[in-house]
Amino acid sequence: MDNPNNLVWHPHSITGRDRARHNDQRPFVIWLTGLSGSGKSTLAGALEERLFASGHRCYLLDGDNIRHGLNRDLGFSDADRVENIRRVGELCKILVDAGLIVIAGFISPFARDRAMVRHLLGAGEFVEVHLNASLAVCEQRDPKGLYRKARAGEIRHVTGIDSPYEAPIEAEVVLDTAARDVPGCVDDILGFCRQTDLIPSLGAAHRPA
Ligand code: ADX
Repeated sequence: MDNPNNLVWHPHSITGRDRARHNDQRPFVIWLTGLSGSGKSTLAGALEERLFASGHRCYLLDGDNIRHGLNRDLGFSDADRVENIRRVGELCKILVDAGLIVIAGFISPFARDRAMVRHLLGAGEFVEVHLNASLAVCEQRDPKGLYRKARAGEIRHVTGIDSPYEAPIEAEVVLDTAARDVPGCVDDILGFCRQTDLIPSLGAAHRPA
């Protein structure tokens, strides 16, 4: 068969399944999408604390933090945002294969890129959570002064102002973070994960994958 890159996948003996069993959990991704200021980082941190406290092995990927290192070469053009999510999707796949529960908080404004990450993972391993706070609410919060700068014309390509946000149509969980407090949002997400057997029901022992 033609192999233009001369690359061959090597099937190693220890598999993702082995690592999941070792960690005594089902690995998957909780993907938080929404405008800047919708509460992704806050909710991601609260989710990680709750999962960590109940003995789950997790890892939090935060948009701003990833752009300090792995994706420091990327800006906010459409093409760079596509590449941002492509790399993060591949990283999610690796971390899931490592046996971890991944909490990813990225604006991820394009539906196609979120679908791409979903399809990189196995069935049921991608829980899309839409933080559905309106632009007006996010702009009023403006925790990083991003919207003020955008309105003042100091920065361009700001999501919701002069760069698009394609809201999910069929997210697994939709949260109005203007109306629901952080512990309530964590409850809603973990409730979905329990219903779908991604994590054990309250009081039940951890089950291997
Ligand atoms: S994404 O669109 O490529 O998914 P990502 O989640 O990684 O974005 O990064 C968003 C963060 O970058 C925001 O929380 C904000 O702090 C910062 N940021 C800086 N410039 C912009 C911009 N033009 N649009 C959106 N976010 C920006």
